Amino acid sequence: MADLDDLREGSNFGLGVTAGQQSFHVKGAENLPWGMKDRLSRIFNPKTGKAVMLAFDHGFIMGLTSGLERIDLNILPLIEYADCIMCTRGILLSSIPTTTNKPICLRSDAGASILTELNDNVLIDIEDAIRMNVSAMAVMLAIGDEAHEAKTVANLYKAVDKASRYNIPVMGVTAVGKQMARDARYFGLASRICAENGANIVKTYYCDGFEKVVAACPVPVVIAGGKKLPELEALDLCYKAIGDGAAGVDMGRNVFQSENPVAMIQAVHAVVHDGLTPQQGFEMFQDLSK
Ligand code: R5P
Repeated sequence: MADLDDLREGSNFGLGVTAGQQSFHVKGAENLPWGMKDRLSRIFNPKTGKAVMLAFDHGFIMGLTSGLERIDLNILPLIEYADCIMCTRGILLSSIPTTTNKPICLRSDAGASILTELNDNVLIDIEDAIRMNVSAMAVMLAIGDEAHEAKTVANLYKAVDKASRYNIPVMGVTAVGKQMARDARYFGLASRICAENGANIVKTYYCDGFEKVVAACPVPVVIAGGKKLPELEALDLCYKAIGDGAAGVDMGRNVFQSENPVAMIQAVHAVVHDGLTPQQGFEMFQDLSK
């Protein structure tokens, strides 16, 4: 039982000190088997240690989403610029050509729509994930939501148990329900719980104090982009996240809802992998949009 009367907030994050055992380019993966490392290396570029994941799984919970009306028209032109694609089984099988040859982070949970918000009780059959040759499985964790917390922890746990048997990494997706705070305390707690339960990658949101969230998470953290922002602000978000230790982005709306999605994903890629400043990235976006 937790001593609730003696919860001491962590304060010594060793900011600026590189995590130990880092000869492999993916944080916390040093001791994993070959298959895991191979899959993680397909997602995280071994030269930069970073990844630009293109997320277009929104329809599985939000239904029709602006910019995802037609996967063939909206998303296929972007895929060549992504390091990894994140989508559901239905979209992968129906709409992504088998010749795409990009690592797949498969959205592997379900169980709700935007009306009730959080998924908690359905997990894809591991054999189906293997049949689709996925490089990672994404499963939500909703800490702090009484109705969903225990079920999502169980779902994540089950996913790790099954996926690790086949050396498939799991990405824990920290949920943000209506009642949940969007701060470093919440994201830090949720990220750490994902990692403690065996997630090999954590997806969360950028926030004040993000460097502590990353420092206290023993596996790579990638950020979701969230709601559509003006392009310069979205590039600034990427830049700050990388500067604070993120291993990349798993971005959706700020790419596919951009005025020019093909230009935007290339600018995001340059900020994440090549260290372009937000302004340089924005100029690249503008040049590519001409
Ligand atoms: C989160 O659970 C969703 O599945 C999205 O994949 C994620 O939020 C990333 O997309 P966006 O950058 O649009 O927030």
